[in-house]
Amino acid sequence: MEKNFKRTLITTALPYANGPVHIGHLAGVYVPADIYARYLRLKGQEVVMVGGSDEHGVPITIKAREEGVTPQDIVDRYHAIIRDSMKELGITFDVYSRTTSDIHARTASEFFRRLYDNGCFEVQTSMQPYDAEAGEFLADRYVGGTCPHCGKQAYGDQCEACGTSLSATELIDPYSRLTSAPVSWRETTHWYLPLNKYEERLRHWILDEHPEWKPNVAGQCKSWLDMGLQPRAVSRDLKWGVPVPVEGAEGKVLYVWFDAPIGYISNTKEILPDSWEKWWKDPETRIINFIGKDNIVFHCIVFPAMLMAYGDGFQLPDNVPANEFLNLEGDKISTSRNWAIWLHEYLREFPGKQDVLRYVLTANAPETKDNDFTWADFQARNNNELVAILGNFVNRAAVLTPVP
Ligand code: 2FM
Ligand code: ZN
Repeated sequence: MEKNFKRTLITTALPYANGPVHIGHLAGVYVPADIYARYLRLKGQEVVMVGGSDEHGVPITIKAREEGVTPQDIVDRYHAIIRDSMKELGITFDVYSRTTSDIHARTASEFFRRLYDNGCFEVQTSMQPYDAEAGEFLADRYVGGTCPHCGKQAYGDQCEACGTSLSATELIDPYSRLTSAPVSWRETTHWYLPLNKYEERLRHWILDEHPEWKPNVAGQCKSWLDMGLQPRAVSRDLKWGVPVPVEGAEGKVLYVWFDAPIGYISNTKEILPDSWEKWWKDPETRIINFIGKDNIVFHCIVFPAMLMAYGDGFQLPDNVPANEFLNLEGDKISTSRNWAIWLHEYLREFPGKQDVLRYVLTANAPETKDNDFTWADFQARNNNELVAILGNFVNRAAVLTPVP
């Protein structure tokens, strides 16, 4: 709804620090967010743009195991690469921090603890995938198997081939990605956020109060809401993450999708320790979450439900402009298959050509549908649009301008 706001808080999805960022991340999230932040600053508005690395979650522990190093080694390496390459591209973050910071551990723990103390969670004991050989529970991506929807290889939380959210129980022939052993099942207890209790408020907020949201975002939200929301586990049996801050929770950490969005708050606190609340709790602050389409449910349903449960004046985002995906030469970009143009490598190969990449990704932004990046198009846009059209225009204008 049209409203007068005094300032804008722009958040950008926190990339997992299990690899560098690629052109898909840039086209979907960081370049559009940066254009918007620069536009608002030029108009004289008060703006804060927060970003940071998402340093928890199973993809990081899997990468560490593959390389025989610690998760901390992995996130230290990729956080530095991501931070430095985004800076070199000219993404004007006011803060680019990380979810392994002390301030984040404190903020995420306190957030969980308040919900726990207020009785917002349900406790459920259920059978979860377990690797008897390794003696470990298999959270999320530690389980592999066949997707029941498309028949391709998928993980215990999602099928990357068809984009469906999954649970390990749905996979056909689930196996442990630690030892390749077939999954066995063992009982464990976790805390669940009952999303169903927030369903009506979420429906009203998204579908009635925000008819201006992008159709792809509203459509995904509506289909989640129409299916009926279920309680969602916010803890995991894992060693890497923010420990669950209650007695009897040894060996359990916060689910990465519980702690990561709280990272937006921790990162704001980190740079504005005395005034961060103004950016989160003042109704005159406009909060905008820039994300990719695979993050819609977490930003439009799960995190808002967490904020509603927390209360204390936290504002919900005014908009969540999620973009579609950018493919590369006709194929889906993939970190695990190393099919990507990595930003730090682009910067090394094309020194000084930051604006060419920013231009091509903007001209070809996947705003309403998946788009394709090709090197032929990159070359044509550089030669025909930037050099020939824009270069000639600037040159002629300069040559024909009378010198007083
Ligand atoms: O999809 C991802 O890459 C996640 N790391 C995004 C997290 S966004 C936010 F919640 F932190
Ligand atoms: Zn699938």
